[in-house]
Amino acid sequence: MPGCQPGPGAVGALHQRGAGHVPLVGRGPVLAKIGILGPLRADISTANMYSVVISGTGLYQPPHVITNAELVEAFNRYVDLQNAEHAEAIAAGSREPLVYSSVEFIEKASGIKQRYVIEKAGVLDPTRMYPRFEERGDDQLSLMAEIAVDAARKALAAAGRKPEEVDAVFCAAANMQRAYPAMAVEIQAALGAGGYGFDMNVACSSATFALEQAYNAVRSGASKCVLVVNPEITSAHLEWKDRDCHFIFGDVCTAVVVERADTATGPEQWEILGTHSATQFSNNIRNNFGFMNKAEDSDPDARDKTFRQEGRKVFKEVVPIAAAHIENHLATLHVLPTDVSRFWLHQANLGMNQLVIKKLVGGEAGAQIAPLILDTYANTASAGSVIAFHEHRADLRTGDLGVICSFGAGYSVGSVIVKKR
Ligand SMILES: CC(C)(COP(=O)(O)OP(=O)(O)OC[C@H]1O[C@@H](n2cnc3c(N)ncnc32)[C@H](O)[C@@H]1OP(=O)(O)O)[C@@H](O)C(=O)NCCC(=O)NCCS
Repeated sequence: MPGCQPGPGAVGALHQRGAGHVPLVGRGPVLAKIGILGPLRADISTANMYSVVISGTGLYQPPHVITNAELVEAFNRYVDLQNAEHAEAIAAGSREPLVYSSVEFIEKASGIKQRYVIEKAGVLDPTRMYPRFEERGDDQLSLMAEIAVDAARKALAAAGRKPEEVDAVFCAAANMQRAYPAMAVEIQAALGAGGYGFDMNVACSSATFALEQAYNAVRSGASKCVLVVNPEITSAHLEWKDRDCHFIFGDVCTAVVVERADTATGPEQWEILGTHSATQFSNNIRNNFGFMNKAEDSDPDARDKTFRQEGRKVFKEVVPIAAAHIENHLATLHVLPTDVSRFWLHQANLGMNQLVIKKLVGGEAGAQIAPLILDTYANTASAGSVIAFHEHRADLRTGDLGVICSFGAGYSVGSVIVKKR
């Protein structure tokens, strides 16, 4: 199913805004240079398709904050303990000493100042450096489902929808708590939603890719009201003992209600004009944890069983890919990047977002154009661009255009173009 065509009603509205615009394909400086991740699919008829809106969003915010100062203090105590334990080997030259982290580095390199986590004490315990979650019985609601239900209820309330009016639940996140039954089915049951549910994972692009699936399900008529949830318990996959990445992630859950425009009744609606998802394989962000580990007799504590990345390579390679992706996607709707009121971008690195915006509109990425939430939430994997959309849209007016865009492991890039109704 294609994802980049405007639904009925979108075209007229765009012509009003976009009179005189010419398609950008092959014209823009970004497009000319970048081998974009695949052709956009703009050749499918939209006849008999429904217009689709986002009618509500919800956010679960964990109860604990870890500031950079707290994080670095705990990490440096861990370094001292480790270096003392291995003092002989370090003195003999057979082991490298661990090196302190620094608040200044973290803020300068990433823009992150703090993160929310579900459990704090375990992370800050220098003899543990990992959150401490109690294992729950099969008859209890799992933690991932619990935070998803919280965000989902808020999104449904914002949309004016009851859970039983939902006919599909997509649980999209960078990590799933278990193999099966699908998290989405547990969430569906806990909410009392109808239809069906499934899980999907495209790492940091899970949310935007799921919005494309929701958009296609609703515009085709297969579903009337889809709930997309993104429970990101990143604290359980982060390597808190590695100073190169220990500051990166935070926990959160977002939820989005996607439904038919003709039956939506919520007070605030955003028409989805198009979606576009693309992937291109890269090993630069990788986590080898998986169900084969045991059969491979691999060490469950080995460094490759948690998040790791070549951050500098990712930065350099993903910025041009993301900018070209957005520009190319907008071009299929005859929209220039400068016509977009707001870009709700993936939240991994402040400098990355500034460069993406510079490539797109030639200017600074102030809060007005590309709001930042990673300073308070850190990188929340797939939920970051959705948090930005959730928190920074109230000032936009009817007819304003915006782009929700994620980029990350895979590589993967997903964009959703919306217009305020
Ligand atoms: C991760 C990231 C913040 C690191 O910033 P960076 O400027 O690339 O920093 P580097 O990793 O090159 O490290 C620079 C130096 O600081 C050091 N350093 C790393 N972590 C440090 C820390 N916590 N405290 C102090 N110094 C640190 C490094 O060892 C290195 O030292 P060297 O120059 O002596 O070798 C940045 O690369 C990034 O955000 N990349 C994009 C990641 C992304 O988008 N991922 C996708 C989503 S998951």
